[in-house]
Amino acid sequence: MKEIVLKKFEEVFGNVEGVKVYFAPGRVNLIGEHTDYNAGHVFPCALTIGTYGAARVRTDRKLRFYSMNFGHLGVLEADLDNLKPEKKADWTNYPKGVMWAFGEKGYQIPFGMDLLLNGNIPNGSGLSSSASVEVLTGYILRDLFGFDVSNQDLALIGQFSENNFNGVNCGIMDQFAIAMGKKDHAIFLDTADLSYTYAPVKLEGAKLVIACSNKKRGLGDSKYNERRSECETALSELQKVMDIKGLGELTEEQFEENKSAIKDPVRVRRAKHAVYENQRTVHAVEALQANDIVKFGQLMNASHVSLRDDYEVTGIELDTLVEEAWKVEGVIGSRMTGAGFGGCTVSLVKDEAIDTFIDQVGKAYLAKIGYAADFYVVEIGDGPCTL
Ligand code: GLA
Repeated sequence: MKEIVLKKFEEVFGNVEGVKVYFAPGRVNLIGEHTDYNAGHVFPCALTIGTYGAARVRTDRKLRFYSMNFGHLGVLEADLDNLKPEKKADWTNYPKGVMWAFGEKGYQIPFGMDLLLNGNIPNGSGLSSSASVEVLTGYILRDLFGFDVSNQDLALIGQFSENNFNGVNCGIMDQFAIAMGKKDHAIFLDTADLSYTYAPVKLEGAKLVIACSNKKRGLGDSKYNERRSECETALSELQKVMDIKGLGELTEEQFEENKSAIKDPVRVRRAKHAVYENQRTVHAVEALQANDIVKFGQLMNASHVSLRDDYEVTGIELDTLVEEAWKVEGVIGSRMTGAGFGGCTVSLVKDEAIDTFIDQVGKAYLAKIGYAADFYVVEIGDGPCTL
């Protein structure tokens, strides 16, 4: 891949003198969905697929961007002294947002750059291609200009840019999973205080299979922000009767005892998901550590049901993928992953069942939805690096 991006860099920007090549992964969340903005736990991991970037510092303050995934857009330009989100800037709003965020955090970027990207994460799949670009940009800025920031800072800066430059009120999970990724490990992160541990994911005889629904996200971002504010309202109603800072602090029992404080039945279901999903995540990590992969799979399945019925972020495409997956012998667990409203599912599938899984779920999906899903057998990889 390094050669491919260097060759394209030369074609687009003239030559490759002084160019460095970098990589940042995508991520998949195993369990703990829509808990990261509710002070709960998440359990994501970085993937070996991600975004490759070739970058070179300029002598002026110009920015020139090219993505091999959006080649039809050609070279898009911007200026370090005038960084603002623009519709016509398309995907470059992600790297621009991170450059803006560095400035906001007090890190002055001295020179512009030429930046070429090539990602092998399916676009809009819910495997965090945008967070991958954000962390990659931060990593490149740190490497080129020597900023004193940790990988965790890169995650926080990426989230800050997504929230304040790109207008999606996301939590910290995606950027954290990408910046802090570790091969063959998932990250058990408490989003209340960012404490975390790495848990080995030893799937003897099984693999993680991603099924991408290929549904266009559409209104996804605004629905995402809507769910977030529903949880915030539910929290403030609960705070009238109990002293809590986030829904993630509650056990199921505490929630059931106090839920009458929430004045709207829809909000009760949203908050219920946040509380129960957080507890499921804690139990799932315990199960994995005890090598109880069956229990882990059951908790994945329960997570999907809650996201479908209480949080209502699945939709017919993700439900079809998961419900068809559950029918296949050798599927240990299956659920939607990421924000929902399209995107993809993650399934834990026994090695010998993978071909049947792809065939059976793929056919049923095509028959019901009218277009095909894509399947990827993925591996858990490290965080960002220089190649
Ligand atoms: C998106 C957001 C994350 C998280 C998930 C849902 O991926 O970027 O912060 O909220 O949705 O778990």
